[in-house]
Amino acid sequence: MKKVVGKFVGVGVGPGDPELITVKAVKVLKTADVISIPKAHENKPSLALSIVKDVLKERKNAPEVLELVFPMTNDKDELERLWCENAHIVAGEAKKGKTIAFITLGDPMFYSTFIYLCKKMQQEHPEVELQIIPGVTSLTACAAVSKIPLAEKNEVVAVLTSGVAEEKISEIAKHASSLVFMKGAKQLKSLVPVLEKSGFTKNSTVAIVRRCTLPQQDVLVGKLSDVKDWDIHDDYFSISMIKQKTKENLK
Ligand SMILES: C[S@@+](CC[C@H](N)C(=O)[O-])C[C@H]1O[C@@H](n2cnc3c(N)ncnc32)[C@H](O)[C@@H]1O
Repeated sequence: MKKVVGKFVGVGVGPGDPELITVKAVKVLKTADVISIPKAHENKPSLALSIVKDVLKERKNAPEVLELVFPMTNDKDELERLWCENAHIVAGEAKKGKTIAFITLGDPMFYSTFIYLCKKMQQEHPEVELQIIPGVTSLTACAAVSKIPLAEKNEVVAVLTSGVAEEKISEIAKHASSLVFMKGAKQLKSLVPVLEKSGFTKNSTVAIVRRCTLPQQDVLVGKLSDVKDWDIHDDYFSISMIKQKTKENLK
């Protein structure tokens, strides 16, 4: 039987509003020995940390803070090296018998840096107990604040990122009732003709939500034909949603 040492917990902290942190996440944040924070680079403030700061302030004993840098690079070798290195650091702490809570925006298993670290921990350090606490994802939070249902009855929702090629978007759009684009909304303007050719109509409902549930939240809701006139902010923390093929849209 493998010997279990320490614990690594992926904690989804929700999309921004601290009231959207789950009760289970709060429990872990209040008891973990180490709070681990993913960062794109050392000097960048962590949005995930700012979401949980009040929960951490309520603790009698301050946790250790472990910043792990995951730079935004496409260099696969460099990424592999960093994931291994960061997994090694986490395992080192766990082997001291500590619980390490890795905080992550939204849900840990949905387009999150946590996923890579989690895989490395499973592969390289299986002796460390692994727990994952789901969080309110930005996807559903954006649907809630824009008051646009993501899916009804047997509708198909496709979730894409802004990096997906137009031909692929066009193919997917032909089969989906709704599309959601993560990782920025800026490219939506250039996609309007592609979407119109793939079954969406000028009347399809569109929403762009920036910094959902945060004080800077901005929600734009309209029709696909409005998008060309919108001033779309180039903010990474944005999601765009397009809903088509409902009877109402096709009128
Ligand atoms: C690396 S993914 C993380 C997704 C996260 N795990 C989740 O479940 O929401 C980052 C993308 O999530 C979306 N996102 C995260 N938080 C957001 C927010 N508060 N408002 C709008 N979009 C957000 C943006 O599209 C951003 O580019």
